[in-house]
Amino acid sequence: MREKRPTVFVVDFGAQYAQLIARRVREANVFSEIVSHRISADEVARRAPAAIILSGGPKSVHVDGAPSLDPHIYELGIPILGICYGCQLVAQQLGGTVARGEKGEYGRTRLQRLGGSDLLDGLPATFDVWMSHFDAVSVAPAGFRVAASTTDAPVAVLENSTRKIWAVQYHPEVMHTEHGQTLLRRFLHDLAAIPAEWTMQSIIETQVAAVREQVGNERAICGLSGGVDSAVAAALVHKAIGSRLTCVYVDTGLMRKNESDQVVETFKRNMGIELVHVDAADEFFDKLRGVVDPEAKRKIIGETFVRVFERHTGGISDAKFLVQGTLYPDVIESGGRDGAATIKSHHNVGGLPDDMTLELCEPLRDLFKDEVRSMGSTLGLPDEIVWRQPFPGPGLGVRIIGEVTRDKVAILQEADAIVREELRLAGLERDIWQAFAVLADIRSVGVMGDERTYARPIIIRAVTSDDAMTADWARLPHELLARMSSRIVNEVDGVNRVAYDITSKPPGTIEWE
Ligand code: XMP
Repeated sequence: MREKRPTVFVVDFGAQYAQLIARRVREANVFSEIVSHRISADEVARRAPAAIILSGGPKSVHVDGAPSLDPHIYELGIPILGICYGCQLVAQQLGGTVARGEKGEYGRTRLQRLGGSDLLDGLPATFDVWMSHFDAVSVAPAGFRVAASTTDAPVAVLENSTRKIWAVQYHPEVMHTEHGQTLLRRFLHDLAAIPAEWTMQSIIETQVAAVREQVGNERAICGLSGGVDSAVAAALVHKAIGSRLTCVYVDTGLMRKNESDQVVETFKRNMGIELVHVDAADEFFDKLRGVVDPEAKRKIIGETFVRVFERHTGGISDAKFLVQGTLYPDVIESGGRDGAATIKSHHNVGGLPDDMTLELCEPLRDLFKDEVRSMGSTLGLPDEIVWRQPFPGPGLGVRIIGEVTRDKVAILQEADAIVREELRLAGLERDIWQAFAVLADIRSVGVMGDERTYARPIIIRAVTSDDAMTADWARLPHELLARMSSRIVNEVDGVNRVAYDITSKPPGTIEWE
């Protein structure tokens, strides 16, 4: 099937680069999709992308089993931009030479233009680019012009505008490369003549139309978790089908301070969405009584959630669709990309019942997180929801070490609210992946006024990360930590000590359980 809208295929050779390139293309207001390097020329011809970008790759083109591209793709007349590995592949497959490297070229280097160039048109004679390669193209294929070089890459940019093939050895998608986004825009808008039409307004219009087509006159339900993805999915589907959407919010009693009020306020009062608010806290605390093992706690929370959800959606018996906030990176990861790194095991709130006969409606499947946030804002969701940190399905249950009780949740909610408020006041909220409080299952001695205290410690955990697979403890300013500590000890009853977790992941995990 031909693509519905002008689409750029970003060919994935198994490195980390494809996603970043795909995002940069979208920042240039063009829709992009990541495809496997095994895609055939026939399929490309059939789907007719507006352009193709060959991404970087981990290997040398000379290694046995190095990923390649169906060479007939070069004959289709579709504009192609090769980047890094993709540049070497263009050279090698079209008759040039890639010399085996001796030391490679990594990091910042100076690019020197060599005369005229369509791709580099309007850019300065020299500028800084970011390199990461071992081999280098030494001879360009016949018919190709060498448009720039660096000390270690004599053929750093090559082009054949008649064949609509351009290639750069450096990485225009990384932020350290000067004029990187200008180069991508030049390729997309001028050389490949793709209009800049992928805007938030058009994304919303397209997705609203798609949801209307899928759901028709049926009803849909959506489980709200309080997180950004389900919130945006719900807002979008509501725009498409209005009152035929019912949202279900299960309050487990393990949410952050004021979180439940905020969900009700936003969805029911401000957006007029039909919301079933289930206060199931008692049921969760009952089931968790006396349970200390982290895995047992997770399992109980997951199962209870499913049971409560089922009970309260049972009444909406005519619903045919279940709305979920699945994002593009989830789709890529569960699709098992060729040669890509390992897939994160999915640990959501216990999952949904197997025998649920609802069809899935996943209107965010094409979008990256930053696009989902921007869509949320455009749809009128408040910043507190749009910019919310990731929050685990089992909630504060995995941040209370040992048995979970109402009293402990109350302590943790207060301490956690202080951590997040101080972070926001310091203007660091968007630089930190997650920042929260953990309640340990011990007591220690302290002194307050003239009194000896024997109370609990709070551990502050704040990490930086791109994807939660790895993380580093955040180097928060000491002054900020001091404010958090002093406020927690003074304002939260039952806490007399604050510690800061300085463990990276690995070996630690982000959550404590
Ligand atoms: P860890 O603790 O494994 O967490 O380093 C990685 C990321 O996943 C979140 N997390 C969860 N999310 N259900 C979820 O939906 C869970 O059971 C769960 N456990 C951890 C965690 O907050 C971090 O962002």
